[in-house]
Amino acid sequence: MDALSDPDRFEVAQLARRRRPGYSLEAPFYVSDAVFRADIDAIFARHWLLAGVEADIPQRGDYVTLEVGPFSVVILRGMDGVIRALHNVCRHRGARLMSAPRGSAAKLVCPYHSWAYDLDGALVFAEHMAPGMDRSCLGLKPVHLRNVSGLIFICLAEDPPEDIEEMAHTVAPYLAPHDLANSKLAHQIDIVENGNWKAVMENNRECYHCSGHPELIRTFFQFFGHTEADVKPRQQRYYERYCRIRSEMDQIWRELNLPSELVEKLDDGATAFRLERLALDNAGESYTLDTKIACKKLLADFTNPRLGALSLHTQPNSWNHFLSDHAVISFILPLSADRTLLRTKWLVHKDAVEGRDYDVEHLTEVWRKTNEQDAAFVSLVTKGVQSPAYEPGPYSPNENQLEKFLTWYMDRLLKYFDGHQPMLPPPAPHLESRLSS
Ligand code: FES
Ligand code: FE
Repeated sequence: MDALSDPDRFEVAQLARRRRPGYSLEAPFYVSDAVFRADIDAIFARHWLLAGVEADIPQRGDYVTLEVGPFSVVILRGMDGVIRALHNVCRHRGARLMSAPRGSAAKLVCPYHSWAYDLDGALVFAEHMAPGMDRSCLGLKPVHLRNVSGLIFICLAEDPPEDIEEMAHTVAPYLAPHDLANSKLAHQIDIVENGNWKAVMENNRECYHCSGHPELIRTFFQFFGHTEADVKPRQQRYYERYCRIRSEMDQIWRELNLPSELVEKLDDGATAFRLERLALDNAGESYTLDTKIACKKLLADFTNPRLGALSLHTQPNSWNHFLSDHAVISFILPLSADRTLLRTKWLVHKDAVEGRDYDVEHLTEVWRKTNEQDAAFVSLVTKGVQSPAYEPGPYSPNENQLEKFLTWYMDRLLKYFDGHQPMLPPPAPHLESRLSS
């Protein structure tokens, strides 16, 4: 993937500068290849991305791979127990080293000419090379990694945003009680959504469409992002139930010392995030069809299954839910202007036994269906915005988190256009005319 040509840079910057606040974006932001390349370089190559969980790699030698635009990264646990991220690119002639999505290895061995690397990236074997070659300069390139209470964030930039420390510090007391370090991966599902990554994130940040999620709203109150003024007369009894349950949950959280104050830092820093502890409807225990726990062995040392849900959203690419019995981790990786990978992981206590404590079908049902429903909504947007009749439409007040997300996005994009050098290579001269046509 090439960086933007100058005409493309100019055009995307113009589009960003004329964005009308409070409205959805112009169509190129959802379908244009030039905007997509700008997004990869300005956003995904320069910000902290959720890329996995500690439970992906519980044993020494375990690894997972993932692609972020043109980058490929391997995240692994070394023989010293340390979790690292490395560029998945051989230092000989650049072959992709590890092709499997996950596995276990004592060394990273290139399938081409068998150069081998230790799990800290050091080159330890390279046959038939000239004497005197300095192997110490040919280790795998490191990728910045920050383990935030069991969530693994990576940053592809040379100088990553330092405010990840502020996020880690804020998130720790909220996440620590759920003890992700002692969880295991119960299931993972990847789906490819037919939509731009921003359409996927926008869709996730509002509950205006929640009546399209019949399974989710058995537990998820439809007042997410709403104020009391948004409550319709027909919702009055529903809202009273929400207030009653919310006040019960406040007491439970206080008694258990579970922090529950809303933290919203969505548009005032490079590492933007939002934390909220949510009361859940009916039995209020978990995101299941019967609203009770899906895993009999609770996370950490919890004894009360009714804890509601802690929600953590991080920009640009994740939303996560932490319950008493399991956690649902979801993050996106952009594939093209109009295709986005959504990776969802379900975590349970490491000692929980499948078939005895939980059933994967039951555990995953609500978010599996919710994700499929959301993918259908996103696909409708992708189709619709390509019509010449499309023009940006106004957000509802309860879509305020979309506005904050897009304020953040435009700010990051314009900072990139105003001062930063592209990380991606410039286009080859013979491609310039094609890319800018
Ligand atoms: Fe990896 Fe040659 S490209 S060993
Ligand atoms: Fe949805």
